[in-house]
Amino acid sequence: MNSNETQDASTSTYTMGYSDDFQRLLRRRNAETSATHLLPHLEAGMRVLDFGCGPGTISVGLAKAVEPGELFGVDMEASQVEIARAAAEAGGHRNAMFQTADVADLPFEDDSFDVAHCHAVLMHAPDTEAILAEVRRVLKPGGIISSREMFVDSSFLEPTMRDGWETFAKLIEANGGHPQIGRELKRLFIEAGFSDISASVSFEPFCTGEDIDFLHGFIIGWFLSPATVEAATKYGIATQEQFDGWRRRLDQWKDTPGALAAFAWGEAIGRK
Ligand SMILES: C[S@@+](CC[C@H](N)C(=O)[O-])C[C@H]1O[C@@H](n2cnc3c(N)ncnc32)[C@H](O)[C@@H]1O
Repeated sequence: MNSNETQDASTSTYTMGYSDDFQRLLRRRNAETSATHLLPHLEAGMRVLDFGCGPGTISVGLAKAVEPGELFGVDMEASQVEIARAAAEAGGHRNAMFQTADVADLPFEDDSFDVAHCHAVLMHAPDTEAILAEVRRVLKPGGIISSREMFVDSSFLEPTMRDGWETFAKLIEANGGHPQIGRELKRLFIEAGFSDISASVSFEPFCTGEDIDFLHGFIIGWFLSPATVEAATKYGIATQEQFDGWRRRLDQWKDTPGALAAFAWGEAIGRK
């Protein structure tokens, strides 16, 4: 499926789900590590939207950067909104507000935000054009659009497990998402009518022994979970035997002295 085909959030399947294993990956991230490209553009008093905010670990850093301005986080999943609210409360971020909403139908006025940001959301959202149009609607003239999304084909494990990554990409695609969208953001922003666009790329590294242990556990807990195996076999993307083989190779990878890994991300900023 490409970004021109229409499939809304109510009919598509969100690939990653909301398991504890995936939440642990999200909790490793914050605004400093995952919104590095955006932070220099934030100023005190700005009104910021974080769409697809998940558990709010990045949102609270954005809220801090614009105090006493306001941060609004939205997510289609009510349990994520609850977790984000609790994180904001625990951190004393009284300027951060969260609510359940579909990013394709935002509950905000036209021209009402200085900044609209998302992290790892467009890669899972079927109708990219409709979302960018909706986000453009709520941005003030001159307001900033920002996104950071993965591109799976440059993400890697060393020693390599390319076929595992290819299966992950096919799974995202089968669910209506866009596994390489991180390197397409600049073009998509231009096509959506934004100007003054700057783009960059970065890696999320897994290089220390602690990182390798974490990623090994995450891949077992998420990619090799019964839910993912069932989805991939249902779509005809991979077989149980392939998953069994990846488990063996993953254990070998973890014990390889030179093991490392990285997720590849693309970032872009533009103005309405
Ligand atoms: C990979 S998580 C990223 C969460 C957070 N931005 C982060 O990076 O920590 C993607 C999030 O986007 C949300 N999401 C996906 N499609 C959405 C939509 N159409 N409307 C609202 N939220 C959406 C999911 O519920 C999920 O919480």
